[in-house]
Amino acid sequence: MLGFPLLYRKRPEPHIGGMALLKIARMGHPVLRARAAEIEDPQAPWVRRLVEDMIETMEDAGGTGIAAPQVHLSYRIVVFRVDADRITDLPGDSEQALTALINPIVEPVGSERAYGWEGCLSVPGLRGVVPRYLTVRYRGIDLDGNRIEREAAGFHARVVQHEFDHLDGILYPQRMTDHRLLVFTEELQRHPIDVAAILAESEPR
Ligand code: NI
Repeated sequence: MLGFPLLYRKRPEPHIGGMALLKIARMGHPVLRARAAEIEDPQAPWVRRLVEDMIETMEDAGGTGIAAPQVHLSYRIVVFRVDADRITDLPGDSEQALTALINPIVEPVGSERAYGWEGCLSVPGLRGVVPRYLTVRYRGIDLDGNRIEREAAGFHARVVQHEFDHLDGILYPQRMTDHRLLVFTEELQRHPIDVAAILAESEPR
């Protein structure tokens, strides 16, 4: 998992029949705790094939983002998109077409944070309320070798922080401040939670 992704390097031709679904690593697998390695050549054919498979795997699983460690490959690659129905009215929170970034970096803009629900393909069945920076700036390299740089807010910023965290071995429960707000999705649907009330109890630090 931490060596060369032989599966991708050795295959000279595109996959027969197109893309492949990859197995998703779940919380507890060491690949999810490791710091992922930089990609030396973002335009290498194996990187493009891996991204295509990550996209197919993400779409099949109903995710909005996925990072390479989540498919057992410890490399600094993320894929995400932001659908129109998820965005808030904050400036900078905008719909984003499917984006693949290699060796990405994120930094907060200001210190303001907001709480919001998150889920993760590596933590199936659960949701948690996580504080994230409201506004961030991020950059990375796309599959054509172009440098991408964006400012993001709201849900767009949340997705980016969640996905980039995977590259440093961090899962969202580690970012949570009140684990009473880590719940099964099915229970949440049956028993809606007054998040503000629970956070108000835990706030006075
Ligand atoms: Ni995740």
